[in-house]
Amino acid sequence: MSPVRKIGVLTGGGDAPGLNAVIRAVVKAACNAGIEVVGLEDSFDGLLDPSRTRRLTPRDVTGILRLGGTILGTTNRGNPFEYPLDGPTGKIDYSERCIETFGQMQLDALVVIGGDGTLNIAHQFYLKGIPLVGVPKTIDNDIWGTTSCFGFDTAVSFAADAIDRLHSTAEAHRRIMVVEVMGRYAGWIALHGGIAGGADVILIPEIPYDFDIVVERLRAREAFGAKFSVVVVAEGAKPIGGKVTLLAEARAGVVERLGGAGALVARELEHRTGKESRYVVLGHLQRGGTPTAFDRVLATRFGGKAVELLTRGDFGTMVANNPPDLVPIPLADVVGKTKTVPLDYDLLTTARAIGVAFGD
Ligand code: F6P
Repeated sequence: MSPVRKIGVLTGGGDAPGLNAVIRAVVKAACNAGIEVVGLEDSFDGLLDPSRTRRLTPRDVTGILRLGGTILGTTNRGNPFEYPLDGPTGKIDYSERCIETFGQMQLDALVVIGGDGTLNIAHQFYLKGIPLVGVPKTIDNDIWGTTSCFGFDTAVSFAADAIDRLHSTAEAHRRIMVVEVMGRYAGWIALHGGIAGGADVILIPEIPYDFDIVVERLRAREAFGAKFSVVVVAEGAKPIGGKVTLLAEARAGVVERLGGAGALVARELEHRTGKESRYVVLGHLQRGGTPTAFDRVLATRFGGKAVELLTRGDFGTMVANNPPDLVPIPLADVVGKTKTVPLDYDLLTTARAIGVAFGD
């Protein structure tokens, strides 16, 4: 019999389609194993205040499989080890208070569903004695140690659909259409979405680009008879020797906000080619709405595996997808790292073989 009788579950960081599917699987698997589940609201904030918690039963999670967002709420300003103070004095550490609440609520363990920032906080709590298991979440697909994260497939499908639609208007107007996608410092969404949507040029953070080479590619297309082009730009892409474009600098407790790469590329390409260019930023549309079937399945597997690991006492780990299996890997091996697109990734090689340009 597992010593785990009561667990808490929380979702942290930016939302990703499939969060509710994980919560549902955790609740159903745990309750079926005789474990009580408490939902903590708004990431670790729910551990600061017991009034922001609620018991979750299978009845509470009925019908949420296909819902976007998270029924528990989330925040990416919620690091209890360093809550930003409004004044100039910096930060305050509320982690001990969270640990007290964990004890008062008689929780035995936590399931922490989140991206790199949230998993980092989870690891710090684990080092302070809280038994827990992490579940990787991000549309960016950049979490170290897992081949995939739920949310990524939904984001890629959305991007591919948007690129499909942009093709016809690009062709009708004989324009260059630039599409900016999310992904932070990794080009997974741009590469997969761009290939699925048939983009001509894909600019990713891992390969700084040269405008002259991009223009050369667009001219070669014209010489070949093509009257329009579609360029996908990852928000973290930058020209050789240049910097990423930011919408806002980092400030206390908040990471820098990327954005503007698409506008920059469209402006420069119009200037250099003389062809009309337009840009579209897909933004948070990539994170909203219902998860794809693939993400629902992956999220359900992650939730079920997390409960299995808790009952086995495999704490301080993250569920990782290592096809065909889900395996536990130590959080210590995951945190502080980013899984970027490897330059020898076979999809990159194939993309180049079929004539997609990366501006290098
Ligand atoms: O990490 C997921 C992500 O959607 C990134 O792709 C993007 O840069 C960032 O979050 C946007 O964050 P926010 O929701 O704070 O605007």
